[in-house]
Amino acid sequence: MPLRPSADVVTRELRGAVLLVTIDHAPVNALSADVRRGLLAAIEAADTERAVQAVLIVGAGRNFIAGADIREFGKPPAPPSLPDVCNRIEACAKPVIAALHGAALGGGLEVALAAHYRIAVDGAKLGLPEVQLGLLPGAGGTQRAPRLIGAPAALDLMLTGRYASAKEALALGLIDRLGDSGDILAEGLAYARELLAAHAPVRRTRDAAALNDRAASLAAVTKAREATAQKARGLFSPLNIVDAVEAAIEQPFDEGLKLERKLFLQCLDSPQRAGLIHAFVAEREVLKAPETRGAKPRALDTIGVVGGGTMGAGIAVAILDAGLPVTMIERDEASLARGRAHIDKVYDGLIAKGRLSAENKAATMARWRGSTTYDALAHVDLVIEAVFEDLDVKQVVFAELDRVCKPGAVLATNTSYLDIDALAASISRPADVVGLHFFSPANIMKLLEVVVPKQVSADVVATAFELAKKLRKTPVRAGVCDGFIGNRLFAAYRATADAVMEDGASPYQIDAAVRAFGFPMGPFQVVDLAGGDIGWAARKRRAATRDSNARYVQIADRLCERGWFGQKTGRGFYLYPEGSRGGMPDPEVEAIIDAERERAGITPRSFTDEQIMRRYLAAMINEGANVVHEGIALRPLDVDVTLLYGYGFPRYRGGPMKYADSVGLPTILADIREFAKEDPLFWRPSPLLVDLVERGADFASLNTTA
Ligand code: 3HC
Ligand code: NAI
Repeated sequence: MPLRPSADVVTRELRGAVLLVTIDHAPVNALSADVRRGLLAAIEAADTERAVQAVLIVGAGRNFIAGADIREFGKPPAPPSLPDVCNRIEACAKPVIAALHGAALGGGLEVALAAHYRIAVDGAKLGLPEVQLGLLPGAGGTQRAPRLIGAPAALDLMLTGRYASAKEALALGLIDRLGDSGDILAEGLAYARELLAAHAPVRRTRDAAALNDRAASLAAVTKAREATAQKARGLFSPLNIVDAVEAAIEQPFDEGLKLERKLFLQCLDSPQRAGLIHAFVAEREVLKAPETRGAKPRALDTIGVVGGGTMGAGIAVAILDAGLPVTMIERDEASLARGRAHIDKVYDGLIAKGRLSAENKAATMARWRGSTTYDALAHVDLVIEAVFEDLDVKQVVFAELDRVCKPGAVLATNTSYLDIDALAASISRPADVVGLHFFSPANIMKLLEVVVPKQVSADVVATAFELAKKLRKTPVRAGVCDGFIGNRLFAAYRATADAVMEDGASPYQIDAAVRAFGFPMGPFQVVDLAGGDIGWAARKRRAATRDSNARYVQIADRLCERGWFGQKTGRGFYLYPEGSRGGMPDPEVEAIIDAERERAGITPRSFTDEQIMRRYLAAMINEGANVVHEGIALRPLDVDVTLLYGYGFPRYRGGPMKYADSVGLPTILADIREFAKEDPLFWRPSPLLVDLVERGADFASLNTTA
């Protein structure tokens, strides 16, 4: 007999004496206002309906509940609040059972913790990942989880944001029962009936005893606080989590809840929460490129790579790691052996660290084939070219691919800067050509720029996105231009760093300021890591076409002329004694910089870290606006994801365009106009930025689904 449904997204149905409450709110049963209302009404009904002896809460679809509705954050709160709903569930006079499958995360797990009994099935993911969104569990999780599973385990879940499997959850005491079958409804109902038959009492987590050893619990808090202060670089919510857990130990439950609420609201108000949630949404939005809707990806069962250098080998590892076979082509046997050796080095490193067995390496390498003739690529579904960065060399390779590859094979290039339209136009099947711009090391870095030339067909682009998924990379759609999205922005902010260096700041101060902002490395450390010779070659290539009026800082060239290419040569902007990776400031570099300032007629002045960062970020944001304006990036959020995943922009700031919105676009534009007084050629405000400021709009207004 169905009882009155309170809202479509939460249905109630009496199954014998058990009130089955189903949350059916696609895509992931997030706890939006309707769901909260429905849950509250269901518990009220359970308490009043005499026929109900127990309540079973389940999720429809693939998940229990993925958590609070993150799209509601930052909007005015709509009652009832989730903490109130959880408290009401816990106060229910009849046993409430939560049956978990798929995601039981954040507020979803908090609902389950408020229930009196929990069962989960294989494949369930239980976690409190709020920290990854700049938050803390704000619906009683910081108070109930430690009482149920103890402070160390609860702190671990909340501070890492990791998921526990159903099996681990059982061992931790987070659930009471592991269901045998995959049928969550049948498992839940059977468990509920069993509990009823046994007259199982209402059992509230707020009364659970895992914190009873007060001294041990407080010791875990002290340890977590120390570790968090060291690890959580600039992050706000982890220390709040520790404070909340301390309150769970020290204070009565209701007082702890009050403190949790206060700390949660602090996090909710923080720009870090806004940045992290922007990143979460943006990394899903980038998947929605126009070509990925409607177009069906082509097959991706076998892959070829041309070139076994830094990138070719890294890409091959990424493909092998995804379980796919790869055929590598090199110029000659010696180069092929080097390519294979690069791959071996990656896997041998993992073996040395105990993260891979020799047998698993052998099984993986059985999917690798090497050849010096292109005919070996006759049957592959997709080829990625990663030979020297030279259009003539690449055109010869593409002519060979055109000759040997089967019809419909996708022909991709990993070029960093070259004109892919020209490359595509040089063969008979331009619609099959796409850019796949990986980042070094290609088996580690998550970003993949999918560069879309004029003549490419939509299903080829869809195939590129599909490949990214298989390789567990984050794809960003980019248009063809010199440097696509990422390297174009990098060139702009690197030029600013060079200019600030020549004007008086040391590279060490600039790197430190950039790190203090939240990047893992400063621009000069990046150059030393990647190899100064790469940028030097690009600068030489562009010398003929460079605007002779544009400022050109020669300091990096002076270092390269000495053979100081960075880590691989033992010195660059930094000194690397005996191959050490952490660099030391080099007085000789400072002397070279002084000499260059003198040659350029510059009297050095001092910069504060803030002045450095205003220039650095303004250059990045202005070029970001340009790539959006030119249609190279679909939306500002595509620029954000590129910088987050490929260039180390601090995630908690959401990316440069999100950061610009938070500072205010008029401020950024005013900065650019001020800097333009010194160098008007470089500091030309992007027309898009000017337009947005005139209209009183922000970058977020352009972040509609593509
Ligand atoms: N709220 C609103 N929308 C959500 C959501 C949430 N909590 N979680 C996922 N979504 C949306 C996604 O944005 C996406 O939308 P789209 O289709 O429009 O792009 C859609 O659901 C599907 O998500 P995924 O593509 O990520 O689907 P997957 O199947 O790959 O992953 C998942 C599912 C593991 C649940 C993953 O989405 C996830 O990790 N979600 C976030 C979980 C989380 O952080 N929960 C804590 C929220 S904060 C909280 O609960 C505060 C509380 O303590 C008060
Ligand atoms: P690399 O010099 O390390 O490797 C190039 C390899 O291509 C060499 O092993 C060479 O023997 C091989 N090769 C050259 N001509 C060939 C041919 N005709 N047939 C088969 N193999 C041939 O260069 P790297 O760094 O791997 O760069 C490769 C490409 O990737 C370039 O286009 C580069 O711009 C791009 N790229 C490089 C990144 C980096 O950080 N190094 C990042 C992203 C893209």
